[in-house]
Amino acid sequence: MLRKLLIGTALASGLAFAAHAEDVKEVQMLHWWTSGGEAAALNVLKQDLAKEGYAWKDVPVAGGGGDAAMTALKAMVAAGNYPTASQMLGYTVLDYAAAGVMGDLTETAKKEGWDKSVPAALQKFSVYDGKWVAAPVNVHSVNWLWINKAVMDKIGGAEPKTFDDFIALLDKAKAAGVTPLALGGQNWQEATMFDSVVLSTGGPEFYKKAMNDLDDASLKSDTMKKSFDNLAKLVTYVDPNFSGRDWNLATAMVIKGDALVQVMGDWAKGEFHAANKTPGTDFLCYRFPGTDGSVIYNSDMFGMFNVPDDRKAAQVALATATLSKSFQSAFNVVKGSVPARTDVPDTDFDACGKKGIADLKKANEGGTLFGSLAQGYGAPPAVANAYKDVVSKFVHGQIKTSDEAVTELVKAIDDAK
Ligand code: GAL
Repeated sequence: MLRKLLIGTALASGLAFAAHAEDVKEVQMLHWWTSGGEAAALNVLKQDLAKEGYAWKDVPVAGGGGDAAMTALKAMVAAGNYPTASQMLGYTVLDYAAAGVMGDLTETAKKEGWDKSVPAALQKFSVYDGKWVAAPVNVHSVNWLWINKAVMDKIGGAEPKTFDDFIALLDKAKAAGVTPLALGGQNWQEATMFDSVVLSTGGPEFYKKAMNDLDDASLKSDTMKKSFDNLAKLVTYVDPNFSGRDWNLATAMVIKGDALVQVMGDWAKGEFHAANKTPGTDFLCYRFPGTDGSVIYNSDMFGMFNVPDDRKAAQVALATATLSKSFQSAFNVVKGSVPARTDVPDTDFDACGKKGIADLKKANEGGTLFGSLAQGYGAPPAVANAYKDVVSKFVHGQIKTSDEAVTELVKAIDDAK
């Protein structure tokens, strides 16, 4: 019996060896990086892999925030047609891992020492049941303002430190005839902005309780109601054509000086970078007023599926390239994010990137690093979707009052849990 087993094993490894000789030299990647800045960042990866002889099979699914991409991924996985990897956000990785369809990169992780270089906040979502199932690409954070410097000078504005300062600044832009706030009326953009509003309104502890722990009393509280009041105020500064606008078009309004400011994750900086704009000269990056010291993060991960043996070498090549120090610097400089490893020098990053790296370190050490609920790091997808839906209905007037918004939010999150 044992002999039979051994022969079986020998045969299997022989077969594995034979298959290895015909490794598929192709990386098939599903992602939602279709804006100018995103595509430029992705090119860095394509080029690195091309140097190693891997062809790139692109599966782009447009739609910031990735909802459409995740629908497409679900269909592929259901059909047993796994991509080499897919861009994914935190809790989605864990969902697929729980479903048993992810591969295992632990051997590569050990060899490369990811345990030591990748922050624990990311390992929580890239390691499942002791196995590495995803390669973190970056750390984005959402509590930022992106401001056109020329417009700021024209209206004589200064960095807003509090929510009230922010409102006063928006008023100045309005008085000067510039659209104060560039927003795309899509639920994920509205909810991404609301993450910052909640942190600013309630402070770090409140954000954590409400948006990560889903604490009922916090979700029902007057502070949450006040957060919706503040969101309602912001929405009065948006131009009438905001419904359905893509996030990068909202960024373009700021780049061109058609609007003063966008509240958006630092992927917006990728658009400024692609347009050859320099922080301090052409644009300004400030933390969302009242949130300095805290970081609301998300991280793009390349989720690795349990692909057939002849496609595993490509997966290892992709993961190794992704977490190499040089790639982490080169890619994130273009993407607007910061490295997913703690040992990458900030030398090549611009002023906003350097601030992003320093802020992340400080927040991580000080216990003020929180997952973005809008961006897949606060709660599982069903809860995040319920949240996005309620916030969006409020912004578009289908939910009329802050009281009603709080009631709907509590109910929707309860149902989704
Ligand atoms: C986020 C993602 C970013 C950026 C953004 C807009 O979910 O983490 O990398 O691409 O969507 O598409």
